[in-house]
Amino acid sequence: MSSVDTPTFLQDGKALSPEDLARVENALEDIHLKELKSDVPTPPAVFGAGGPMLKRFDQSTAVSRITSQAVTPPRSVVGIGNKVAKPDYSEAKIVVAMVGLPARGKSYLSNKLMRYLKWLEYDVKVFNVGQLRRSRARQKAQQSGKKEDHTASYFSHANAEATKLRDQLAEDSLEMLIQWLKEGGNVGIHDATNSTRSRRAKIEQRVAKEKGIVVIFLESVCDDPAVIAANVALKVSSGDPDYKDMSRETAEKDFLRRIKEYEAVYETITEPSLSYLRIRNVGDQVTLCHIHGYLQSRIAFYLMNLHLKPRSIFFSRHGESQYNVEGKIGGDSPLSERGMRYARALPDLIKDNIGDAPLTVWTSTLQRTIQTAQFLPYNKLTWKSLDELDAGVCDGMTYEEIEQAYPEDFANRDEDKFNYRYRGRSFTLLLFLVVITHDLGGESYRDVVVRLEPVIMELERQENILIVGHQAILRCLYAYFHNLPQADLPYIKIPLHTVIKLTPKAYGCDEERYTLPIGAVDTHRPKPGAKSFDSSSIGNTAREYYGAN
Ligand code: F6P
Repeated sequence: MSSVDTPTFLQDGKALSPEDLARVENALEDIHLKELKSDVPTPPAVFGAGGPMLKRFDQSTAVSRITSQAVTPPRSVVGIGNKVAKPDYSEAKIVVAMVGLPARGKSYLSNKLMRYLKWLEYDVKVFNVGQLRRSRARQKAQQSGKKEDHTASYFSHANAEATKLRDQLAEDSLEMLIQWLKEGGNVGIHDATNSTRSRRAKIEQRVAKEKGIVVIFLESVCDDPAVIAANVALKVSSGDPDYKDMSRETAEKDFLRRIKEYEAVYETITEPSLSYLRIRNVGDQVTLCHIHGYLQSRIAFYLMNLHLKPRSIFFSRHGESQYNVEGKIGGDSPLSERGMRYARALPDLIKDNIGDAPLTVWTSTLQRTIQTAQFLPYNKLTWKSLDELDAGVCDGMTYEEIEQAYPEDFANRDEDKFNYRYRGRSFTLLLFLVVITHDLGGESYRDVVVRLEPVIMELERQENILIVGHQAILRCLYAYFHNLPQADLPYIKIPLHTVIKLTPKAYGCDEERYTLPIGAVDTHRPKPGAKSFDSSSIGNTAREYYGAN
C-alpha cells in the first residue's frame, strides 16, 4: 500500500481489483445522483407510499407517523401473585469485540445485535471507541484551546503519537466495558476496528483476567462495492461529527483515505485460538470458530439470519371480530360485518403498496386472522406462535368481568402488565386415588416475547412479509423493530383496520400507517393514571452520535 491518493479496499489481506474500485466509485456516483434528486441519502426503497386505492377510499385517509403510548417504569417484580420475574441472566457476561475496516457495517451489526438481545431482556451496551475519541478531544480542546486533528493522517500507522492515543482509547473503552459488565451488564459490544492481531491479543489477554467474562470477536468483511459506497455515503452525510464542518466531497475523500490507512495494517482473523464469527457481506457467508455456550450460539444464530436486501414488513391486526364488538378478550370468534369489509379491502391496499413485488402472508391459527387474510392473493403461512396472548381463566371475559371476578389480578396486571401472567385454567385429575390439580395456559407478555423469538429469526431471514395478527402479538414484534422498552410494550397502540408498514434502514426502521375508513371498536386500554407520551422519536432511522456533538 504505497500512495494514499488512490483508495484500495483490502479483503482478507487482498486489495480489491481496479474493476471493483470502479464499481465503488460508480455506486457512490449513483448515490450522489439519487440524493441530488431527493435530498435524503436512503438505500433504495422498494415500495411507494400511498396509492390510488387509498385515495379512492377517502380524501382524508391518513398516512400517519407513530402513535404509541408510554407507561411508568415497572416496579420490581417480587414474585407475588401472578407476576413472573425476569429470568436470571446474571451469569451471562460477554464481550463482543467488533473487527473490521471502516465502512464495513460494524456499527450496524452492533446496533442490530443490541436491539435483539435487549428485546430478550439481556442488558446490552455498545461501547463505541469513535465516540470516546471525540468526547476526549472535546475535553482537551476545552482545557487547552487546541483542536486535535482527526482527519485521515490521525489514523495512519506512521503517526506514532496518534497510534498510541488510539490504542489507549481502545483500552480505556474496554476497561469501561468490563467495569459495566461487573456492575451487572450481560453483553458489552466493543465497537472499534480491532483490526490487528496485536490489538486482538491485548483484548483477549485483558478479558482472560476476569473470571466469568468471555470474549468473542465479530469480524465484518465486505467486498460488495455498492454496500461499501452506501456506508461511505451514510457516514459523511449522516451528521457524523468527524465530518460536520467539511464539504461532502472533502469528507468523502478524507474518509476513503482513512480506510486506506487502516487497510495498510489490517489483518483478518486467522488466530487459531480465538472465539470468533466472520460475516461476509451481511448474509452471504458466516464462519464460526470456537463458539461455545448458550448465549454465544444464540448470538451466532441471529447474525447468521441477517441480510441487507431492501424490503418491508407489514403488520395488520385481524378485522374487527365479534368478540371485539362485545368487549371480550381472547377466544376464537369470527369477524364482524365491518371486519369482513376490512378483509375485502385489504388486498387493494397491499397491492397499492407493493405492486408486483413478492409477498408472503403470515397468520395465526385463529379464525379471525385467517378470515382477514382470505382474499389476499399471496402465499400464506399459518403460525401457532402468532396466536393471541393466552388469557387463561379470563379468556372470553370482558375487562369489567375480570375486574369483578379477579380484582387482585386485575390490579396486578395494571401495575406491571409486562410481567403479569394470567391464571391458567385449572383442571383436576384423579389418578390411582391421587387428586392432581394442574394449571393450563395463561401467559404474560414476557411469555409471548419468548414464543415469538423463532418468528423474529424467520422475519430477519425473509423479505416482504405481511403479518395478519393480534394486538398483543403485534405489540411484541413492533417493540423489537423500534427498540421499545418492555414497560412500554403492552401499551403500544395497534389499532384495528390499520396497516403498519416498517421499512428497515441502516439504524432503525421507517414507519408508515394506513388507516382504512371502516369503523371499528377501540380495544386499547390505557394504563390507569398514566400520561401518554410523545412518540415522535420512534421511527428515527438516523445514526445516533450520542454525546458526540
Ligand atoms: O381485545 C383484543 C385482544 O386481542 C384480546 O384478545 C387480548 O387478550 C388483548 O387484546 C390483549 O391486549 P391487552 O394486553 O391490552 O389486554
